[in-house]
Amino acid sequence: MIRFAILGYGFIGAVHAATLKKVDDAQVVAVIEKDKSKWGAVTRGNIDVNGMGSLDVPFFESIAQMQDNVEADCISVCLPTFLHRSFAEQAMAAGMHVVCEKPMALTLNDCDAMIAATRASGKQLFIAQCIRFWPEYVELKRMHDSGLLGAPLSFRFQRLSGMPTWGGENSWFMQEDKSGGCLFDLHVHDIDFVNTLLGKPRALYARGVKLANSNAAVVSQYHYENNLLCTIEGSWLSFSGFKMSYTAVYENGQLEYDSTQSPALKLWKKGAAEPEAVHVAATDGYTEQYNYFVDCLKSGKAPALVPPESTRLSIELALAERESIEKGSVIEL
Ligand SMILES: NC(=O)c1ccc[n+]([C@@H]2O[C@H](COP(=O)([O-])OP(=O)(O)OC[C@H]3O[C@@H](n4cnc5c(N)ncnc54)[C@H](O)[C@@H]3O)[C@@H](O)[C@H]2O)c1
Repeated sequence: MIRFAILGYGFIGAVHAATLKKVDDAQVVAVIEKDKSKWGAVTRGNIDVNGMGSLDVPFFESIAQMQDNVEADCISVCLPTFLHRSFAEQAMAAGMHVVCEKPMALTLNDCDAMIAATRASGKQLFIAQCIRFWPEYVELKRMHDSGLLGAPLSFRFQRLSGMPTWGGENSWFMQEDKSGGCLFDLHVHDIDFVNTLLGKPRALYARGVKLANSNAAVVSQYHYENNLLCTIEGSWLSFSGFKMSYTAVYENGQLEYDSTQSPALKLWKKGAAEPEAVHVAATDGYTEQYNYFVDCLKSGKAPALVPPESTRLSIELALAERESIEKGSVIEL
């Protein structure tokens, strides 16, 4: 049994706690949350996740206080992004493995420090890039790697949401130095997935929109040696709720996903008049990432599907997108 402590019981901390109830050989043994008004509370964010509820475990104000009372094998860092590095370091130094929410950090310096702490402590660091485990994205990667649809031609990824206002209008989310804005908070999911699907681009170009001093929407184009097209859009400006989608076009067919449609995943084969629905496992990336990481911890293996070096590359790409937005020019990588 792997014993988890959840650090930060805001929106995603509650999702982690609810998710871990469904994962074999995993148990939440404590929550560390500095805001006592949230102790035991149900929280809400931009995704409706069934099973959220109050937790029957002790709540503490700090890692040290938790360790005086409860033993945990792993800490799930669900804190505001600017705190990821320091608390991941603290948790590993205190002898625990770490699950850390995305984005890994806001600077390469912080990513490097987290990787160094992993090596120095001998503990595992798993960055929760849940889209790598989301069934419809796993299916795209499977199709892509199999070569069944022929050569890849063009890709479009989209992630739309309203403003993350669940912490209040002036919360850390709206301070770009703390959250990185929409680019690092929302868009990074697709940056990271594209990074695992197509690899590092040779160049990129991005445009962005600011609202209340924070990056609130971005559209980027990734350039690859073989000239395939790849466009990624992330936005906090949507009035119509949360939606994630992609269109992946190959020589012999097209895979199309839209989280707001039913069926959500469709395959258009070359020459076919109608698409066929593609069925994937009825699960989600939050659950599957924990199923995977718990197995890694049980078998003493590093999480090879999400090495921290690969999530560092996603931060490098997000920084390059920000530079492109600021300079208005293509960034060679
Ligand atoms: N994977 C996803 O789909 C997803 C979705 C939302 C958020 N996130 C990420 O998760 C992280 C947290 O986001 P959120 O929406 O849960 O934020 P949030 O503001 O709702 O929750 C953060 C919590 O951390 C607590 N906290 C802050 N400092 C603390 C400290 N020193 N000790 C203990 N608790 C402390 C706050 O009181 C708050 O309850 C961010 O990095 C965000 O990008 C990921």
